[in-house]
Amino acid sequence: MSTIVDLRSDTLTQPTPAMRKAMFEAEVGDDVQGEDPTVNRLESRAAEILGKQAAVYVPSGTMGNQAAIKAHTQPGQEIICEERAHIILYEMGMPAAFSGCLVRAVPTPEGMLRWQDITPRLRPASDHYRGTALIEVENTVNIAGGRVYPLEQLAEIGREAKAAGVKVHMDGARVFNAALASGCAVSDIAATVDSMCFCLSKGLGAPVGSIVVGDKDFIEEVRLVRKALGGGMRQAGVIAAAGLVALEESPKRLHEDHENAQYLAGEIRRTDGLRLDPDVVETNILFFTTLPGRIPGAELRLRLKQHGVLVSGAGDRIRMVTHQNVDRAGCVRAIEAIRAELAPAGESQERQAQPVGGSAY
Ligand SMILES: Cc1ncc(COP(=O)(O)O)c(C=O)c1O
Repeated sequence: MSTIVDLRSDTLTQPTPAMRKAMFEAEVGDDVQGEDPTVNRLESRAAEILGKQAAVYVPSGTMGNQAAIKAHTQPGQEIICEERAHIILYEMGMPAAFSGCLVRAVPTPEGMLRWQDITPRLRPASDHYRGTALIEVENTVNIAGGRVYPLEQLAEIGREAKAAGVKVHMDGARVFNAALASGCAVSDIAATVDSMCFCLSKGLGAPVGSIVVGDKDFIEEVRLVRKALGGGMRQAGVIAAAGLVALEESPKRLHEDHENAQYLAGEIRRTDGLRLDPDVVETNILFFTTLPGRIPGAELRLRLKQHGVLVSGAGDRIRMVTHQNVDRAGCVRAIEAIRAELAPAGESQERQAQPVGGSAY
């Protein structure tokens, strides 16, 4: 375990020895021709585990989401999503720039859409507009603190969207965390949507790659969009091999990350001057703020760095994400560092908060 406690994101995970061995030994071919046996195995296992007809391996969650959006929509059509969705905040404006779609972003208290939030914004095509093509849901919801959609809420969206002739795509970057927290299979979650992109990197720990799942025709279209985006990766079996290990092995250990997040949440609740925001912690992501009169969050982030504790966030909101490369001892160190830096009331008021860019990868 490194001496740095890196809680900035689960995107920082290092490949395990088993992943490195699999990469070394991977059988490869030209995946653009469909001839890489390791990629083919990864795609068919992913489709099987998610309970969908087909799957395609893509270099990143961003490409997976945006290729899916492109495949589901026509320029001028509308997409409904929550206002904190990763697809609109952190994916380079691609729903507009690449797919030419109009996004109708809906504010909700918990970052999660309900059907009643969607219906008033649904628009069938008319003489004046192209209409709603797609509803996008994120599960777990990153910026809302790793919150998990109740399965029935998703099922209702899926049912009603189908009746309205609108597709549903899930940004399931952390869907294995969502399934663990919900006590269901990932295929139960996938069954509520038309397509999903999930990440083999992040909590599952693979060095690179995401998977889009859906029905056969849709996935063939996503494959073409992937090529158009420059995502045809040739002998990609070298990295897909690590993805296969991630897919088969990593979900078994995600509970450790959730337990560590619970530990951190409990200690933060007990620490004078801090507030969890939101108070509910369900998976491996948590946010907290410092109370007025205490050291500003932006400065606390910088000071924690001097203790070898790295966290992310924006403004006064601090984010910590647990993952396979931070153990319980690391979490204990993070709490000790936070407590050591919490200045008594008054002292911090003289300090200026450092401007920081928000990060939410
Ligand atoms: C919820 C969510 N969706 C999508 C992505 C994009 O994944 P990638 O960084 O692989 O493009 C991220 C990245 O952190 C994410 O948190």
